[in-house]
Amino acid sequence: MEMHLFDLRLSRKTKRTVSFISGVIIGFWIALSMMTHLRDKYERCPVSSTSEWTSGVPEQGWQAGYGPTSLENNQSHIYIGVITARKYLDSRAMAVYKTWGKQVPGKVEFFSTYDASGWSPAGLPVVSSIPGIDDTYPPQKKSFLMLKYMHDFYIDKYDWFIRADDDVYIRVDKLDRFLRSVNSSKLLYVGQPGFGKDDEFGKLGLREEGNYCMRGPGMIMSREVLRRVAPHISWCLRNLYSSHEDVEIGRCIKTFAGVDCTWAYDTRDVFFNDYKNYHMGRIEELGISIINRAITLHPNKRPEYQYKLHNKFQSLRLDDLNERVLALYRESNHISGLLQQPPTGLALTLGRQPSLTSYRPRHVHDVLVWEFFTRRKMYGYSSKSGQPARGVSRLMREAIDSAMQKVVEKINSGSARSRRTVKYNDLKYGYWRVSPLVGLQYVLQSFLTLREYHHGRRTLTVRKHVVVQQSFQSVQFTEDDSEQQSSFTGDNLNGERTSHDDTVHIIVPLTGRTASFERFMENYEKTESFLVDSRWT
Ligand SMILES: *[C@@H]1O[C@H](CO)[C@@H](O)[C@H](O)[C@H]1NC(C)=O
Ligand SMILES: *[C@@H]1O[C@H](CO)[C@@H](O)[C@H](O)[C@H]1NC(C)=O
Repeated sequence: MEMHLFDLRLSRKTKRTVSFISGVIIGFWIALSMMTHLRDKYERCPVSSTSEWTSGVPEQGWQAGYGPTSLENNQSHIYIGVITARKYLDSRAMAVYKTWGKQVPGKVEFFSTYDASGWSPAGLPVVSSIPGIDDTYPPQKKSFLMLKYMHDFYIDKYDWFIRADDDVYIRVDKLDRFLRSVNSSKLLYVGQPGFGKDDEFGKLGLREEGNYCMRGPGMIMSREVLRRVAPHISWCLRNLYSSHEDVEIGRCIKTFAGVDCTWAYDTRDVFFNDYKNYHMGRIEELGISIINRAITLHPNKRPEYQYKLHNKFQSLRLDDLNERVLALYRESNHISGLLQQPPTGLALTLGRQPSLTSYRPRHVHDVLVWEFFTRRKMYGYSSKSGQPARGVSRLMREAIDSAMQKVVEKINSGSARSRRTVKYNDLKYGYWRVSPLVGLQYVLQSFLTLREYHHGRRTLTVRKHVVVQQSFQSVQFTEDDSEQQSSFTGDNLNGERTSHDDTVHIIVPLTGRTASFERFMENYEKTESFLVDSRWT
C-alpha cells in the first residue's frame, strides 16, 4: 500500500470557505508557441479606411500636456491599460483600481474618452488627454491609440504591456509570477485565443489557422511585440477588416510582429472567460480548479462582485501564506531537533510533523474514532440522530473534494519532469476523524486518472490511497459572510444541527495565576449576564 502524507491547513470558522482550502502555489505553465513568420501584409480590401480613424494618431510624438499620470510602484515590470468609458469611471474602473489595480507591480492607467477638463474621480489614474478618442463601441480606435501611448511613454520602463477591460479580475500575484518566468525580449502575445464566432467564420479576414487574443480575459504583449507594432498603428487603423477590436489588434500584431496568440490549451482555464455560466463574476459558480488556476476572470460587470472576488482571492492568499508559516514552524522544529535544543513557542505545537500515530490515548475513552464514509453515506455512531448511517452533507463533500484537489495539485506540480499528470476522478471510500491537538485527518481511497506521456500516450485509472491532514493553526477571527446562517446556528461538518445548549468546557491552568483567574471569572460573569439579558429582552 502506497502512502502519502499531505498536509493541509484547516480552514477557519467560515464554513463556506471549507470548500476552498487552498493556496498551494500551483505549478502552471503555458506552452508558448513562437512562430516568426515573415511579415506579410494583407492586401485585401479593408472595411474602413476613412481618415477620421487616424486623425488622433500622433506620428511625431505627443503634444505637451499629454503625459502619463503619476503613481507607480518601483518594482515595476508590468503596465496595464484598462479600457473603460466615462460612465463607468465611478463604478467599474474604481472597483478595478481599488482591488487588483493597487497590487500591480508597475502601473495601471484607465483610458476613457477625451476630456479637455481632465476630470476624473479622485485618485483614479485616468488618461483622458488623447484627442480623438471617445467612448464609441467597439473601442477600436481607443485601443490602438492606447498601444501607441504605452509605447511612446513606457516602452523602456516596463517589460510587459497588457490591455484589459474594466470588467476583468486579474490575479496580480499569479500574473507577476508567470510573467517573471518568461523572457520579455521574445515575441510573445499571450491570452486566450479566439477564432471568431461560427457565423463569422471566414469573414474576419483571419488567415487559415489564424487566431487572435480575445479581448475580455485580457491580452498580454511582451515589450518586443509592442516595439514592433507601434510604428504601424496608423496603418492598422486604416486597414480594418471587421468591427472587432481584438481581431484587428491580433491582425496588426500578426502582420508586424509575426506572432499568433498563444495556442496552449490551458489558456482556457488560465485566462478564464465565460459569458454563459459565470454571470457577473459570481464565484459560487466557479469550480475549484478554475479558482486555483485562473490568472484572469471575465466578466465581472458589477463592482460588488469585483470586491467579493477580491476578498475571496485575498483569503486564498492568506491560506497560502499560513501554509508557508506552518511549513516554517515545522522546519524550525526540525532544526531544533538537529541542534538538540527543545523547540519553543508555536514551533513546539504547530511545528510537529504530521503523523497519524503521534497521539497515544491513555484510556479507552480517549481513543479517537475514525468514521467511515463513501461518496454518499457516512457510517458511525452519531449522538444526534442515533442512526448508524446518514447522508454525507454537501459541505463535507466539498471539503473532501477540495482536499483531493490539493493532493492532485501537489502530485502534478512535478508533472513537467515526470511526464505524467493525474486528475481526481471519484472517491471510493474514506475515513476521517478530528484530533483536537492536530486538526482534521482523512484517509482517502480514491480513483485517479493517470495520463502518461513517456512513450506515446497512455491513460489509465488508478486507485490511490492518501492520508491528508488539515492542521489547526493559531486562533483567528474572521468575518462570516455566508448569508444563510450565522456561525452559531449553522450545520457542522456532519450536517447536524449544533445547538446553543451544548456544554463548552473551558480549561484554565491556575497554579500561580489567581489574579488572572479572578479577572477571567469577572469577565465571564459579565459576558454571561449579557448573553442572558440579550436572550430574554
Ligand atoms: C522609486 O525610485 C526612485 C529612485 O530610484 C525614487 O526617487 C522614488 O521616490 C521611488 N518611488 C517610490 C514610489 O518608491
Ligand atoms: C531573452 O531573449 C533574448 C532574445 O531572444 C535573448 O537574447 C536573451 O538572452 C534572453 N534572456 C534570457 C535570460 O534568457
